[in-house]
Parts: sequence; C-alpha cells; structure tokens
Amino acid sequence: MAEFKEAPANASAGQKLLNWVDNRFPATKLWNEHVGQYYAPKNFNFWYIFGSLSLLVLVIQIVTGIFLVMHYKPDAGLAFASVEYIMRDVPWGWLIRYMHSTGASAFFIVVYLHMFRGLLYGSYRKPRELVWIFGCAIFLCLMAEAFMGYLLPWGQMSYWGAQVIVNLFAAVPLVGPDLALLIRGDYVVSDATLNRFFSFHVIAVPLVLLGLVVAHIIALHEVGSNNPDGVEIKSKKDALGRPLDGIPFHPYYTTHDIFGTSVFLMAFSAVVFFLPEFGGYFLEYNNFIPADPLKTPAHIAPVWYFTPFYSMLRATTDLMVNVLCVIVGLGALGGVVKGRFGGAAKAALVVIAAVAIVLLKTFDAKFWGVVVMGGAVIILFFLPWLDHSKVKSIRYRPSWHKYVYAVFVLFFLALGYLGAQPPSEAGNYVSQLGTLVYFGFFLLMPWWSQLGEFKPVPERVTYVPH
Ligand code: HEM
Repeated sequence: MAEFKEAPANASAGQKLLNWVDNRFPATKLWNEHVGQYYAPKNFNFWYIFGSLSLLVLVIQIVTGIFLVMHYKPDAGLAFASVEYIMRDVPWGWLIRYMHSTGASAFFIVVYLHMFRGLLYGSYRKPRELVWIFGCAIFLCLMAEAFMGYLLPWGQMSYWGAQVIVNLFAAVPLVGPDLALLIRGDYVVSDATLNRFFSFHVIAVPLVLLGLVVAHIIALHEVGSNNPDGVEIKSKKDALGRPLDGIPFHPYYTTHDIFGTSVFLMAFSAVVFFLPEFGGYFLEYNNFIPADPLKTPAHIAPVWYFTPFYSMLRATTDLMVNVLCVIVGLGALGGVVKGRFGGAAKAALVVIAAVAIVLLKTFDAKFWGVVVMGGAVIILFFLPWLDHSKVKSIRYRPSWHKYVYAVFVLFFLALGYLGAQPPSEAGNYVSQLGTLVYFGFFLLMPWWSQLGEFKPVPERVTYVPH
C-alpha cells in the first residue's frame, strides 16, 4: 500500500479533497498518465480527430439510449407504436430518437475514417498490434450492436433485414439451421427474437464495447500514439525522459479536440434537425411501415454501413466460386513453377490447393458468400502481419502505393453503393471485381507492400509551426 501523503497546511479545500481521494484512489495518477502528462506527437493532423469523435458518439449513443429505453416497449405487438409515441408524444422524444438514429450512422462514419487513418499511417504496425486488434473487435461489436438495434423499431426493414441476415447463418454446414433457430429463438423472426435482440442491444454488447474501448485506449497509452510520419517519438527523449517531439495531451490536444467536436456537432445537428432520414440512408422509408411477416418488401437492403459487406455476399455466386477455383489453381501453379522453396513444400501447396478447390465446389455458393462476408471483417485483424512495407506511413512509401490505396477505397465505395441498389447483372460483375480487389489488397499485401522505391524516413517528425 502506498504511504498516505498529507496535504500542505495552506492547501485549498479542493486540494485537500483531491489529496484525500488520491490517498485512496489514483485520480491524479490516472489523469497524469492518460491526459496531463501523456505526451502525444506534436504533428497530429485532421485524421487524428476521429478517435475522440468516436468516444463522443459512444457517449451520445449511451445517453440517448438510456432515455429511449424509458419509453420503448420490447414487444412485437407494441414496439412500433412505442417508437411513434416517442416521436409524437414524449417531450423531446423526437430529438432523442433522431440523435440516436443519426448517431448510429455518425458512429460508422467516424469509425471508418478512424480506421482509414490507421491504414494511411501504418498505425497497426509494431508495437500497436493490440491497439488495432482491440479496434477490430470494437468494429465487430459495433456491427452486432447496429444490426440488433435496427430490429427494435419493428418496421418492415427491421423485420425483413433481420430475417435475411439470420437466415444466412442457416447456410453454415451441419449446425446452420440450429444456429439460426438459436439466434431467432423461433422458426421465424418473432417476439422472442425482438426480446433477445433488445437484451443484447441494451446491455450485453454495450458492456463488451465499453470494455474494449477502455482496453483500446490503455493499449494505446502503453505504447504511445503513432503520427502522420510514422516516426516513433519515444526514441528521442529529453533529460527528463519526455519525448522531444511530444506535447502534453492537455491542454494541447484537449483544445484541438474541442474544436473538432464543435465542427462535428454542427454537422451532426444539421442532420438531426434538418435531414434526419438523410434521403433514406440513415432511416429507410420502408421502416416507417409496421413489420408485416406476410408481406416481403420488393427490395430489402441493409443500412448503408453494411452495404459493402452485403455486396460481397451477393457477389458470391456459382460463377464467382468458379473464378475462385481458377485463382487458387493458378496460384498453386505459380508457386510450383516460380516458388523458391523445396519439393516437399511444393507438393504440400498442390495438396492444399486441391483440397481448397474440392471444398469450394462441395458447399453451396450461399455458404461461401457468408464466409466471404465474415472474412472481409476478420481479415482486418491480420493486417499488422500482412503489411511488410519497410516504413509505416504512406508519406514515405513509393508514390504508386497511393494509387493502390485509392483503387481499394474506390471499390469499397462502389461495393457500398451497389449493396444499396436492387441486384443487376452489371452491378453484380462490378461487385465481384470489387470483392476480388478487396481481398487482393489484403492477401497480396505481403508481396506488393515491399515493392518500389521507399523514401528516407526523417529522424524526427516533420512539423511546421502554425
Ligand atoms: C468505439 C470505437 C472507437 C473508439 C472510441 C476509439 C478511440 C480511440 C482513441 C481516443 C484513440 C486516440 C486518438 C486517435 O489516435 O485518434 C484511438 C487510436 C487508435 N485507434 Fe481507435 N477507437 C475506436 C475504434 C477503432 C477501430 C474500429 C479501429 C481499427 C480497426 C481503431 C484503431 C485505432 C488505432 C490503430 C489507433 C492508434 C492510432 C495512432 O496512434 O496513429 N480504433 N482510438
């Protein structure tokens, strides 16, 4: 146990209280470690605002969620009407509900941008692998949270969206139908499903999410933040052990974040007050119709933040499975002809490829669609070990790497757009190409990330005072 410290005799009442607390709980120590004396690189830019904004949106979702739960009824017979009651009769209910629905989309916008920053500056590389892995787990939780929350208003899209997605689990070999039954709690999406989704959405997933966010930040503060140059600021310290290129998080970045928060809140309020449905992207029009298990809507599309992954699912047709077989076959052939490894390894490669092709052809394309959709998220966890580039930041990578990133982003956006549209032949081909580009970007990264002429990385961060 640490020794009790006496507050100086002339200390103010506030200081005495803090001293009393500090002797029993590490308040000042925690503040200093994570804020007051947390030295962050001085060259943070615009991209570094999205971590704090994700925290802000998390708080908005929790606070508005608490108030929604006070009036919402998790009952298939009452849920839709209770949301209408919140919108029309509960004082300020419309504001709380629109803040929560806009917050869901805002969450994905800031988190996607936050992840993209990580990609740009190699923030997932050693020693920040765990920061990234916690982040990917957060992303998974966020998807589960949004998916289950969307069922709660019990509109047509809530109902049929859940029906489509839960049915996907039935495609898993052997256990699929039982798994789908377990998730629904019934043979169709019903009151039992609504109850369990409510329970998960309101308590289970938020608890895990909060725990993961704490772990994410503890892991980050253990190793220190990366920066747009990808230079480790801890390698150059002053006599007191403070990084030469670091500045205390408070007051420098608290001010920076307050500014970012203000700009964000202006945009957020503009949407909440003037455009809450956002053209049907944040709140789908079909969801203003109560759920009707006997009437399937003509076009079922998930909310925009799921559409890139939904496109990949739809793109995995029999043709796509055949293309994958050809790619696996050609990959193995290339390895055998060009590979600089022994005969045994080459034989193993051929066997693995043959097994992969047999498996691809044995199971239904629908099952592979589910694997592709899940794999698109799971692959992110492995990014720290896929990137073999000599430098972290895009700034010092060969210039053409920027085009690789640009192609990746463009196809990801195209997948997102196409996932929101009714299926079409041309759209499907583009989605198939987009799926190949998405996976190619990651799976071929160990190869392409080392290629080209790298620029010299400076010893210290580049910073222009402004
Ligand atoms: C609720 C969601 C999240 C919250 C509240 C959150 C919060 C934060 C905060 C406050 C920071 C420090 C400030 C900054 O660098 O922007 C940070 C850094 C970081 N986050 Fe997140 N994050 C979330 C989700 C994610 C996700 C989904 C990923 C990736 C899959 C991720 C990866 C990272 C990485 C790699 C860093 C270190 C960046 C660097 O030092 O350059 N985070 N996060």
